[in-house]
Amino acid sequence: MKPEELERLNQSPFMKACRRLPAPHTPVWLLRQAGRYMAEYREVRAKVSFLELCKTPELAAEVTVTAARRLGVDAAIIFSDILVVLEPLGMELEFTKGEGPVLHNPIREAADVQPLREVVAAESLGFVFDAIRLTRRELPGHLPLIGFSGAPFTLAAYAIEGGSSRNFDLTKAFMYRHPGAWGDLMGKLSRAVAEYLNGQIAAGAQAVQLFDSWVGCLSPSDYREYVFPYTSQIIRQLKPGVPVLHFGVGTGMLLEVMREAGGDVIGLDFHVELDEAWRRLDGVAVQGNLDPVCLLAEREFVLRRARRVLDQAGGRPGHIFNLGHGVLPPTTVDNVIALVEYVHEQSARPSRG
Ligand code: CP3
Repeated sequence: MKPEELERLNQSPFMKACRRLPAPHTPVWLLRQAGRYMAEYREVRAKVSFLELCKTPELAAEVTVTAARRLGVDAAIIFSDILVVLEPLGMELEFTKGEGPVLHNPIREAADVQPLREVVAAESLGFVFDAIRLTRRELPGHLPLIGFSGAPFTLAAYAIEGGSSRNFDLTKAFMYRHPGAWGDLMGKLSRAVAEYLNGQIAAGAQAVQLFDSWVGCLSPSDYREYVFPYTSQIIRQLKPGVPVLHFGVGTGMLLEVMREAGGDVIGLDFHVELDEAWRRLDGVAVQGNLDPVCLLAEREFVLRRARRVLDQAGGRPGHIFNLGHGVLPPTTVDNVIALVEYVHEQSARPSRG
């Protein structure tokens, strides 16, 4: 990219907020902003399976760009899934209708870890890098593109459970019973994730988000012992100067230790009050945290709740407006567009100089 193009992206409200610099308005984007609630997405999905969509750079780029343009958001997130990184390790991944992701050969014994391969991202995940390059070309020049990966705990949880889970009992039991194998697994995942994210940055992502979606099932002391060394190592290995967003669900008790593990921006879910959470997170930017279920209510209610989030952020530099978790399939696109417009309007600040 040309230096003037990079500079333009760097001056965008999203990038400024990541660095806690004042921006002309509060930037807004939504977790899962490209998805089944959108007719354009369903049309593409009618022709290909979800994994094929992820692995076809032209289609992944199309879905990414369409959602960002249609919604008028301040950032795009590359269309993919956190679980694609598990395949090159040797896991058999399938997205089944109704049941969500399934890993057909879950890790259940300590001996299941050793055969997992080291991931060479450029070889096995090149389709994501291609999708990022294509998207960067098609995306409006002022819109930053966010790359992402699952964080090692959440990836390990899917690999061990074999799919989604309520309490992650198998994952935690594995961690407690086989600390050595747990370390080997987390080490393999961490090396894969660091290389994968740096590859996304090299391909043209302006920022990266680590999704540790299910780490909220751990206590702070377990987080420190079983997760912190790996997540913090990944973040230290990422290209300096590229903002890192660090997010999980149900992490109200973990915010301080997650912040310590790293990230320029901590993603807040809808279980916490943004003002209180931000007070505890001195020195970083925050992203969040409207409950996605609010978008299923009437327009007036959505905007009232958006107002509450903006009030809690108090116009301080370093707030990125987002949902506290992903957009739900029954959401109407009109409500999302109204939300984005409202955040822009209500947070507009006269430019200083
Ligand atoms: O945000 C975006 O628009 C980018 C795309 C994106 C997807 N998944 C697309 C997707 C991102 C960032 C993800 C991350 C992801 N995937 C997470 C972390 C975020 C979170 O929700 O906490 C997790 C846990 C997954 C795993 C996953 N992928 C599950 C549990 C499911 C099934 C549930 C569901 O919503 O269907 C998926 C499938 C998935 N990932 C879909 C999409 C659009 C739906 C697939 C379809 O089209 O049928």
